[in-house]
Amino acid sequence: MQIDPQTLSPARRYFLLISAVVPRPIAWVGTDNVEGGHNLAPFSFFNCLSASPPVLGIGFSPTESKPSKDSLANIRRTGELTVSIADLSLGDRLHESSAELPYGEDEFAATGLTPARGSVVSAPFVAEAPVAMECRLRQLIELGDTGSTMVLVDVLMLHIRDTLLDARGTIDPHRLKPLARLGGGRYASLGEIFRLPSYEQLPD
Ligand SMILES: Cc1cc2nc3c(=O)[nH]c(=O)nc-3n(C[C@H](O)[C@H](O)[C@H](O)COP(=O)(O)O)c2cc1C
Repeated sequence: MQIDPQTLSPARRYFLLISAVVPRPIAWVGTDNVEGGHNLAPFSFFNCLSASPPVLGIGFSPTESKPSKDSLANIRRTGELTVSIADLSLGDRLHESSAELPYGEDEFAATGLTPARGSVVSAPFVAEAPVAMECRLRQLIELGDTGSTMVLVDVLMLHIRDTLLDARGTIDPHRLKPLARLGGGRYASLGEIFRLPSYEQLPD
């Protein structure tokens, strides 16, 4: 079967693509609102795009009910954000924080999560998260006139729960237990973790 994405409705194109590119990591984005309050929302058009320099990419897509995301408006204004990584225990609250609340309503307070301050940016991260990164906007890429926008952000500081690091100084995926996004309303855990025989000699 061959499908030209341009022939699909926006909704079908969305559901097809997000069920094809799986599992996706989730950026739990913390920002400062204009009134000094906090904003928190999950975004799974997300990945680590470069290690040197350390750069993450996040995609923001408008919806009919919310043509402009509060997180993106805050990033445009302040140039700062945090990205927390949720483990499985935080799944319900991560999903709750995606509620399309009016601008200015604080999803930390709404979900009972603790906003933590880092040392470089003012935007808060999720204190309960096993990993969080303080970030600064590097580049905004508008995807034509669709209202979809990609941001590239520099990672300035990492916060990692001490118990996660293994002897080599990498994060043990068994201890991290990251939450991943599939298509539709589905989420996933890591499942089986294995090494391909040809990579057995390489470090993590
Ligand atoms: C797991 C998950 C992943 C999501 N990923 C994205 C995404 O990559 N891009 C996007 O624009 N919206 C995404 N959303 C929807 C936003 O989280 C939602 O629109 C949220 O209300 C935006 O909040 P804000 O307006 O406070 O920024 C996702 C929602 C969930 C639950």
